[in-house]
Amino acid sequence: MSDSLKREAAARAVALVEPGMRLGLGTGSTARHFVALLGERVRQGLDVVGVPTSEATRRQAEDEGIRLTTLEETPQLDLTVDGADEFDDRLRLVKGGGGALLREKIVAASSTRMVVIADSSKRVERLGRFPLPVEVVRFGLASTRTAVADVASRFGAQGSVTLRHAEEEPFVTDEGHFILDIAFGVIAEPEAMAAALVAIPGVVEHGLFIGLCQTAFLATPDGILTLT
Ligand code: 5RP
Repeated sequence: MSDSLKREAAARAVALVEPGMRLGLGTGSTARHFVALLGERVRQGLDVVGVPTSEATRRQAEDEGIRLTTLEETPQLDLTVDGADEFDDRLRLVKGGGGALLREKIVAASSTRMVVIADSSKRVERLGRFPLPVEVVRFGLASTRTAVADVASRFGAQGSVTLRHAEEEPFVTDEGHFILDIAFGVIAEPEAMAAALVAIPGVVEHGLFIGLCQTAFLATPDGILTLT
């Protein structure tokens, strides 16, 4: 998707922001536009506070002059705006392509409303086209990986379970964990599989966001489509 379309979707989400709101600030190239546009409004006098979902977003928000808070100080948020790697028409999402899924999910779950901003290429009939990220603790990685692969094959995974790398080294999340990416094809039963994954000791969180998102602003070359 072109950057200008991403920015249009982000602009639609920024229009929802009202003075005094407590915001969750997403991670990724689309959420980055939201934070930039929010920064413009803040510099024009809008008073809001934000909880960033990653260290990258924290740095950007600080540069933009957006007042930041934490979930310790502000446990309930009004609105979270974030990107997604894919989503279906029931607004079930796969997230974590940028590796921030754990903080993203905690922030989304602490919000009254979650809005996703994305382009139409992220919309799928059935989830599973994008490899599902699973955040795991480092201890016992080989055992956890085997257990994750067992669950994945029970739920129809067609491909491998890969340890994510960044520049030759295992990718480490902001919370100090590793990420396993499951190549699915199609996730037949997302809810049941989500429950099976979190039951594995060593799994911290997975990238399926179910029942968390109420609205998606979808950028298309013909304009913004709103899904609810
Ligand atoms: C990061 C995420 C991102 O929201 C997701 O990867 C989408 O990113 P982009 O807007 O760059 O396509 O889940 O963990």
